[in-house]
Amino acid sequence: MSNIFHFPDYDMAYRRQGQGIPLVLVHGFPLNSRMWLPQLQELSQYFTVIAPDLRGHGCSSQPDWSPDHPQPYSMDLLADDLARLLDVLEISEPVILGGLSMGGYIALAFQRRYPQRLAGLLLAATRPGPDSPAAKEAREKSATQAMGSGVSAIAEAMLPRLLAPAAYTANPDLIETCRSIMLEISLGAVVGDLLGMHQRPDSNPQLAAIRVPVLVVHGDADQIIPVAEAQAMAAAIPGAKLVILPGAGHMVNLEASRAFNQAVKEHFKQI
Ligand code: MLT
Repeated sequence: MSNIFHFPDYDMAYRRQGQGIPLVLVHGFPLNSRMWLPQLQELSQYFTVIAPDLRGHGCSSQPDWSPDHPQPYSMDLLADDLARLLDVLEISEPVILGGLSMGGYIALAFQRRYPQRLAGLLLAATRPGPDSPAAKEAREKSATQAMGSGVSAIAEAMLPRLLAPAAYTANPDLIETCRSIMLEISLGAVVGDLLGMHQRPDSNPQLAAIRVPVLVVHGDADQIIPVAEAQAMAAAIPGAKLVILPGAGHMVNLEASRAFNQAVKEHFKQI
């Protein structure tokens, strides 16, 4: 990595590559910008690809925190961090904003808060709805588990569902890459993300009013967010294009990187 900005509350690291309209890629939980390497490599031929590490993830530092009073990293807070990054990079033109999973929750928060800063939206392996009561309970358990057993317990619990079932025998290198990326998160960020996702609002009501080009990409073997949720989201956004990648799981940008990049290039070259 990369570049660092010293914000008053923490240092934000980000990767930047290429030229052209900015394409900002936001990682999922509990990951970091390293998950976007195939996109940084290829899509930088067409876009200025910017991939931050969210607060406490990867090479970004963790703001002060106390396990007694953990701070939720709300989706709005993380969207505001993206706006801060664009400000310090002096990017005032509208950007294409992409997010995978939790990154998609943040992209939808950004759309709500800064619609004038958007030229396009890429929603990958994500959903607009809030957590169900059962999902909220699971978040609370995971946060307690992380504080007791550390971040590796969370990574190991998530790993078996992160990729398509077939990947666990076919692609052991990818499993190891994902594991090592997940271990680069701080404890404060694990807890902050879990509490932030737990309290995120329903983004469904805003979908019909989105007026920028939208691409929804999902793997049909996603074990974390069922493909039906992406289908419903795409149907609710005027003019959105839906691309379902066969055989890909939740890490659709890594598991089907070529097809993923092709879909992004095709859809956003119109901008
Ligand atoms: C992610 O990949 O960002 C998370 O699985 C999202 C979630 O837990 O809802």
